[in-house]
Amino acid sequence: MKFLVINGPNLNMLGKREHEIYGKFTYQDLVEFIEDTAKPIGLDVEVFQSNSEAAIVDRIQAASNVDGIIINAGAYTHTSIAIRDALLSVGIPIVEVHLSNIFAREDFRKKSYISDIAVGVISGFGREGYRFALFAIKDILEGRR
Ligand code: DQA
Repeated sequence: MKFLVINGPNLNMLGKREHEIYGKFTYQDLVEFIEDTAKPIGLDVEVFQSNSEAAIVDRIQAASNVDGIIINAGAYTHTSIAIRDALLSVGIPIVEVHLSNIFAREDFRKKSYISDIAVGVISGFGREGYRFALFAIKDILEGRR
């Protein structure tokens, strides 16, 4: 089973940005956490990050060989119809993840262009959210949901 994890803009700034919201771990720590979670449960995972909306759309379009997508689109979550359309075009199960609880923050973060096309949304559990998402999407694909 192969999963693609997509992280959007400014997630590469983890460790530097707003510690009180996102924690002190770095982006590299997050990537290692995801890989260390995936390996023992037999998942092949690719972690992709870009600050560019176009690059994210291109990566999604090239994802026809993956079984599931876990996406934290960062601020594009709240703005990008292009990312939504790309996700719809590949027809692969999607789990939306956010480190912070987007529903407990500014009003503009409460709108997501991804939530209604995702199988589920995990928001507010820090990097643990990626672990929950990996287990959840594996369960779905193995028919346990
Ligand atoms: C985020 C929440 C977004 O609103 C914000 O723009 C981010 C990170 C999160 O993981 O909590 O960059 O997606």
